[in-house]
Amino acid sequence: MEVADTELAQPCQTAFRWDSKQMALDGFWADGAEPVEPSFSTSHGALFGGDCMATLPRIASESIDTVFADPPFNLGKKYGRRTNDSLRDEEYLEWCRTWLAECVRVLKPGGALFLYNLPKWNVELGHFIGQQTDMLFRHWIAVSISACLPIAGRLHPSHYSLLYYTKGKPKTFRRIRTPIAVCRHCGGDVKDYGGHRKALNPKGITLKDVWTDIPPVRHAKFKSGKRKANALSTKLLDRVVEMSTEPGDVVMDPFGGSGTTFAVSEAKGRRWIGMELDFPDVVAERLRSDELAHHANTDVLDLGD
Ligand SMILES: C[S@@+](CC[C@H](N)C(=O)[O-])C[C@H]1O[C@@H](n2cnc3c(N)ncnc32)[C@H](O)[C@@H]1O
Repeated sequence: MEVADTELAQPCQTAFRWDSKQMALDGFWADGAEPVEPSFSTSHGALFGGDCMATLPRIASESIDTVFADPPFNLGKKYGRRTNDSLRDEEYLEWCRTWLAECVRVLKPGGALFLYNLPKWNVELGHFIGQQTDMLFRHWIAVSISACLPIAGRLHPSHYSLLYYTKGKPKTFRRIRTPIAVCRHCGGDVKDYGGHRKALNPKGITLKDVWTDIPPVRHAKFKSGKRKANALSTKLLDRVVEMSTEPGDVVMDPFGGSGTTFAVSEAKGRRWIGMELDFPDVVAERLRSDELAHHANTDVLDLGD
């Protein structure tokens, strides 16, 4: 991502280790909660292996700037040994409501909550989030996907839903622009923008709520050999993190998976707290080696207005 104001784009310079003592000093443990040692930590973040519901209740209320959650979608997929992805619908929704309530609790006033899931689940879960005190709907972002096969008797599913809520008025909303599309052969504009081309901001178009440019994570250079499925593109997390946080802010992801959220947070100088049930070792390896590539991203962060 290109950044218009380079000062704010610098990684966080405050080096610290997120061991239990530091987390306690920084006020991340809920009153009366026994601090627990993370399974892995860096200068920017801490990862807690195991069930997120063992860690979430220990985190202090109003201590997190942005929560991003990409849970299993209950599609009967094989994750690790401990994840059951074949729950009854109501059981799955109830499970989601339990950790979502915790995610809302730990959010700072003005903090942001992003929930990535199937439209079928996000319809229900969005309703639940909207019922929580102070939670305001911001966007249903449609993230185009190409991997889904057509289903007989249905429209061809071609997007996942990324719900975006804030706890009251957003404390941080940074404008992202995408470049004005040009023909790669002649360099000319590919759209006429209804005759308003000259009125467009030269830095690009304000990011829309339909994202058709998030690449799948296919190539080996982007994903861990030990955990090949369900990794999200760093480009999606670039947007979430840049849009809703400032350098030094804290991003939390209760379903770390391959660690995309944490790798992006590290690269952007954000602090992070993560949980992962089955693959904490994969996350640790990714962050230790920093070998996995990030997807190219031509977004522009416009801090000018
Ligand atoms: C869809 S994946 C997340 C992928 C991640 N966003 C990425 O880019 O790699 C969901 C992850 O949640 C983990 N998981 C399932 N149940 C969990 C729980 N109760 N607590 C913590 N993690 C859990 C699974 O092991 C899986 O890795």
